Amino acid sequence: MKNQGCDIGLIGLGVMGRNLVLNMADQGFSVAVYNRTIEKTQVFIKNEVGGRDIRAGYALSEFVGLLRKPRAIVMLVKAGPSVDAVIESLLPHLEHGDLLIDGGNSHFPDTNRRTKSLAEKGFLYMGMGISGGEYGARHGPSMMPGGPKEAYERVRPILEAAAAKVNGEPCVTYLGPASAGHYVKMLHNGIEYGLMELIAETYDLMKRGLGLTNDALHTVYDQWNRAELNSYLMEITVNIFLQPDDKTDKRLIDAILDQAKQKGTGKWTSWDAMDLQVGTPTIDAAVVARDLSGYKAEREAASKVLKGPKTTFRGDRKAFIGQLKNALYAATIITYAQGMALLKQASNAYGYGLNLEAVARIWRGGCIIRAALLEDIRTSYQKQPGLVNLLMDPHLSKEMMARQGNLREVVSVAANLGLPAPGLMMSLAYFDAYRSAWLPANLTQAQRDYFGAHTYERMDEKGVFHTQWGQPREGK
Ligand code: 6PG
Repeated sequence: MKNQGCDIGLIGLGVMGRNLVLNMADQGFSVAVYNRTIEKTQVFIKNEVGGRDIRAGYALSEFVGLLRKPRAIVMLVKAGPSVDAVIESLLPHLEHGDLLIDGGNSHFPDTNRRTKSLAEKGFLYMGMGISGGEYGARHGPSMMPGGPKEAYERVRPILEAAAAKVNGEPCVTYLGPASAGHYVKMLHNGIEYGLMELIAETYDLMKRGLGLTNDALHTVYDQWNRAELNSYLMEITVNIFLQPDDKTDKRLIDAILDQAKQKGTGKWTSWDAMDLQVGTPTIDAAVVARDLSGYKAEREAASKVLKGPKTTFRGDRKAFIGQLKNALYAATIITYAQGMALLKQASNAYGYGLNLEAVARIWRGGCIIRAALLEDIRTSYQKQPGLVNLLMDPHLSKEMMARQGNLREVVSVAANLGLPAPGLMMSLAYFDAYRSAWLPANLTQAQRDYFGAHTYERMDEKGVFHTQWGQPREGK
C-alpha cells in the first residue's frame, strides 16, 4: 500500500488541517501532508500519526511527488492572500487535470476568480466550506463543496467517508459550480451569527432582566435544548454556564470581555443580501451587535450619561422564561427563513442551481448550525422544492404563528426594560413586513418623486409617472 501514491494531499497543518488528515486516514485513505513550517509537520508526524498511512513532504516538490495522479490537494490555510500564495507556489509542481480544493472560509468572489484562472491553466478547482470546528474536522464535519462536478466525483468517496453522518446520510454533497460551496458556507455562517445573537439576547434578558445566576441559566438552556430548540449552539451554551475560570473563583463566562470579534463571513452575507436585495435583517442585526460590542470604552462612558429605564423585570418570571423560549424558536425559524431566501435568490443570480433540500440535509450534522429544526426544513423542501420562503411552509408557519404572541411580548419587554434585542426585534419586523400585503413604501415613492423626480408606479395603471408635487390642482 505504501508504495502507491497517496489518495489525497493536505496543505496547512493547523488544528483543523491535522484533524481532517487524521479523520481521512482513519477512514482508510492515504494522505500526504505539507506545512510551510517544517517543525509543525515533524511534530505532527512524531506525535499524532501513529500507524496511519500519512506521509510528509517537507518541500512542495516532495509533497506533490507523494500523490497519486491526477492529484487532489486540499488547502486549509487562512482565507485571503495566503490562498493565492499557496496556489502560486504549487502550480509549477502540478500537471494538467490536477485538482485543488480550498477548504477555508474564502470569500466567494475570490473562489470564482481562482476557479476561472486555474481552469484557464488546465487545473480543476473546488471551493469547499468545512464546518464543525476542531471536533468536526476530527470526527465528521459538514462539508459544502462547489466546483466542477467531475472534480467532486474524484474526491467524493473520501469526503463522504470523512463527513458527519445523520441516519447514515453523509453531511456532504455536490452543491453546484464555481463558488456554490463557499457561498453556502458563507450563508451557514450568516445564519450562525443570527442564531448566536438571538441566544445572546435571551441570555441578557434573563441575566440583566431577571437576575438569573449561571446555574439557573444552565438549567433553563438545558431544558430548552431538550425540545424543539435542540441544537449544537444550544448545547454549548448549556455547558458554557458551568465552566469554571481557572484564574479566579468565578465562572469563566463572567470573566470574558463583552466584545465579540468576527472574521467577516457574517458581514459578507449581509453585503450580498443587500446586493441581491434580499432582506436578512436578523443577520444584519447580529453583525451590527458585534460591531457595537467593540465600542466598549464609548459604551462605558455613555452608560454614565444616557440613562434608560430600570432593567429589572417585575412580572411573572416563570411565565416570561416560557415566552422567551417560544420567542427564540420563532426568531430562529425566521432567521433560517431569511438565510434560505437569500440562498434561493443567490442560486438564481449566480447560476448555482442549488438544491435547498440538500443544503438543509448536509447541515443536519457536523456543522455549527446543526439543529433539530433542520430536519423540518429539509422536509419542507422535500415537499416543495420551489418553496419561496420557509415562512410559507404549512408546518413551519404554524409553529411560528403559534409563538408570534410570545415574540411580540418579549420584544416589548426588552424595549420597556431598555435591553437591546436587535435580533429578536428585527426577526419580528421581518415577519410583520413579509406578511403585510400593504407597506408604506407608497409614501417613500412619493417622496422620491417629489424631491428627485425619480417617478413612481401606480396601483391602478401600468407605467411610470411623475407629478409636479406641491401644486394643488383646482378644485382638489
Ligand atoms: C464553522 C465556523 C467556522 C468559524 C467561523 C467563526 O462553521 O465551523 O463557522 O467557520 O468558527 O468562521 O467566524 P467569526 O470569527 O466571524 O465569528
